[in-house]
Amino acid sequence: MGKVIAVANQKGGVGKTTTAVNLAASLAAAEQPTLLIDTDPQANATSGLGINPQKLTKTIYEVMVDGIAPAEATMKTDLAYLEMIPSHINLVGAEIEMIEVVHREKVLLKALEAVRRKYTYVVIDCPPSLGLLTLNALTAADSVMIPVQCEYYALEGLGQLLNTISIVKKHLNQSLDIEGVLLTMYDSRLRLSNQVASEVRRYFGDKVFQTIITRNVRLSEAPSHGKPVLLYDALSIGTKNYMDLATEILRRDGILAEPPAMDVASAIISPPAAVPPRQPSATTVNPTETAVPPSMEAVAKPKSQTPEPEQRVGMANGNGNAQQQSQDSATASVAPAQHQQQRDISSLG
Ligand SMILES: Nc1ncnc2c1ncn2[C@@H]1O[C@H](COP(=O)(O)OP(=O)(O)OP(=O)(O)O)[C@@H](O)[C@H]1O
Ligand SMILES: [Mg+2]
Repeated sequence: MGKVIAVANQKGGVGKTTTAVNLAASLAAAEQPTLLIDTDPQANATSGLGINPQKLTKTIYEVMVDGIAPAEATMKTDLAYLEMIPSHINLVGAEIEMIEVVHREKVLLKALEAVRRKYTYVVIDCPPSLGLLTLNALTAADSVMIPVQCEYYALEGLGQLLNTISIVKKHLNQSLDIEGVLLTMYDSRLRLSNQVASEVRRYFGDKVFQTIITRNVRLSEAPSHGKPVLLYDALSIGTKNYMDLATEILRRDGILAEPPAMDVASAIISPPAAVPPRQPSATTVNPTETAVPPSMEAVAKPKSQTPEPEQRVGMANGNGNAQQQSQDSATASVAPAQHQQQRDISSLG
């Protein structure tokens, strides 16, 4: 049975769509059959994968409002293991059109029953609101991923979101879990980014993904080319960040093995060959910038058919590998934001 992850935060522009598209693409690149569902009337995830939402007649709108089978609205993408149910601006009216529907919060849950076993992961991109569309996504989901932008007022509204999640858990979906809080648009040069990151970690503890999504221009360029970042620039830091995130989730879910623990004894007995001293250099290359992400073979050699899904295995603890450097070269006027963060954080509980 596929695991359904809703990417939600009612705050606008925090990286929900970027995360939904690129996480789904990275899971697919790791050869996991994945379905991306766009439930936002803005249809950014749809156009971000190169699909023109204006020309579509079978979308998530028809699935939720007219009751067509999700398989009818499912489209192939450039990645062999990734399929998508697109959105359309019509979805704006769905909340009102569904007002008479009995159990209208469960429409998506019921629609997905028929298709979720075809995939290992179903990723849902939510709109920036806590309305009926997001409620449907949270009711259909096994877990919710919360992107938090490393910016001013990052924590604003998180209390409201957590409250909604606990109401959904109580009344609509007892098994809803928090998949994790994802720090996005992180800039290690900004003291503010570091402050937000440590504040979020202090509040959410190990619910925060180890992987951090850095600010990367390739991530913002890729949608205008209708591609996930790994097809737009496979060597970018954005590709690496989202592959790391997928790896962290796959390990936690027991689909990828944990990396083997280092054999300390043999490392001591046979030390590596001496490395010549480094020459001072004007530019320092960040090794992560050039690292080739894993499973790129899957990207390079798309298969003609989506294979049978694998059964999802149980949960284990995650262990991502994104390391962020702190370069406190920082900027002015962090104090008001810091004050605001503290106010926000204290209002969360
Ligand atoms: N890591 C990043 N680096 C650089 N730009 C980014 C990054 N993540 C997102 N962006 C850009 O920030 C903007 C907002 O991102 P995105 O659309 O993913 O947010 P959203 O939460 O889905 O927004 P909305 O609430 O409107 O649906 C977009 O222009 C996107 O390209
Ligand atoms: Mg969006």
